[in-house]
Amino acid sequence: MKIVVKESYADMSWAAAEDFLAIASSYERPLVCLPSGHTPILFCKYLRDHYLSTGTKPNWDFIGLDEWVGVPHSEKGSCRHFFDEHLFIPLGITEDRFSFFDGMAPDIEMEKRKAEEIIDSHGGLDIAVLGIGANGHLGFNEPGSDPTLRTQVIELEAITLHSGQSYFLGPKDMPTKGLTLGLGTLLSTSHVLLIANGKHKADIIAKTVNGPVGNDIPASLMREHPACTLYLDRDASGKL
Ligand code: GLP
Repeated sequence: MKIVVKESYADMSWAAAEDFLAIASSYERPLVCLPSGHTPILFCKYLRDHYLSTGTKPNWDFIGLDEWVGVPHSEKGSCRHFFDEHLFIPLGITEDRFSFFDGMAPDIEMEKRKAEEIIDSHGGLDIAVLGIGANGHLGFNEPGSDPTLRTQVIELEAITLHSGQSYFLGPKDMPTKGLTLGLGTLLSTSHVLLIANGKHKADIIAKTVNGPVGNDIPASLMREHPACTLYLDRDASGKL
């Protein structure tokens, strides 16, 4: 795993966005997944700025990384809503270019199969940009997740529910399950960019980089990925 440390959140977001754009442009029509949450807000802004200032449209197809089970995509706090707000609507990305887990679907198993079929029909996922949860999760792959799964529905840990509150408007009865692309899918993606910023991520980054490799800290598994770069700001790298 290559590690890039930048002085500020803005610098690390820009470095990751530049890398993403360069990799994406080496493909004709890559399939990508991006994270929602607080970390990728500036990363997404730089993607928007790039496409709007150059008058170009993304050349990628998008598949949703994860979603809260029981939360509609129209609700602020859903992963899908994040992308509607930060990328899809501002860039005019239409539904033929993205697919997303539907947290309200009556048949969750079908949601998993649909995502797997999309990835299969594309011949695999080309680029995954991933945030890192406070417990080291990737997407919603919590500690202990089976590293071979292609997708999964999982009970979320208390710490994930706690940090997740801040994505929603006001107090919320948090959903307890998440739908996610699985570690097997993420580990077999051609290019992986991990992003983390802030002092609150320093402990989990130290475990990810210097602790044992294993699914106790899902992000640590990426140390064995052949093309993974971890982008950090100075604060998140503070305990390395
Ligand atoms: C959330 C999401 C992840 C995200 C991670 C970090 O629970 N399921 O996809 O990358 O946790 O979020 P944040 O960037 O807000 O710290």
